[in-house]
Amino acid sequence: MELIFASNNQHKLNEIQAIAGNKISLKSLKDISCFDEIPETGRTFEINAGQKSRYIYDRFHVSCFADDSGLEIDGLNGEPGVDSAHYSGSRDFGKNMELVLSNLGDNPNRRARFRTVISLLLNGEEHLFEGTIEGNITREICGTKGFGYDPIFIPEGYDVTFAEMDAEEKNRISHRAVAVRKMVVAALSSQ
Ligand code: IMP
Repeated sequence: MELIFASNNQHKLNEIQAIAGNKISLKSLKDISCFDEIPETGRTFEINAGQKSRYIYDRFHVSCFADDSGLEIDGLNGEPGVDSAHYSGSRDFGKNMELVLSNLGDNPNRRARFRTVISLLLNGEEHLFEGTIEGNITREICGTKGFGYDPIFIPEGYDVTFAEMDAEEKNRISHRAVAVRKMVVAALSSQ
């Protein structure tokens, strides 16, 4: 089965392909010669993922999916949420983490979760899948692996941050992995 991933992020595509296995062949936007800047203007992960998959389906009429993810922190009323990629006004991971740590200050409520929503469009019909991983925000930056907020997030049941874990372990338990596995089951059973 072939699915177009409505993203230009090759790193994510490889990660998702590894989770999806060999029954699904993922193609990128480059493979369908789409070089557009896809709009992403919603205030929820669901709306943003749907906006991106619908954009591709409407133009190319292919089975496709898009994802949107971010970090929700209870002590910050769910921030950075859909603004995760540019919380500090820049896409700099270090600046975004520093802003989270300074906004949280000494707040003892450090509960947080990463959330991914995938919008899959099969024959024009939307299917939504969600993956979350619960955890806590550290008081300082720890670890060098991964990306984004990995160095300040300790998943529940662990005593190290995502940035201190091997990629294989993170990819086994991550929000994205949970959502992708759900999508793969649904996509394959629709055939
Ligand atoms: P995206 O929708 O997957 O591109 O994620 C948006 C933003 O959320 C990223 O730029 C990161 O700041 C953050 N984020 C999403 N997933 C992760 C993750 O697995 N680790 C750390 N940060 C993440």
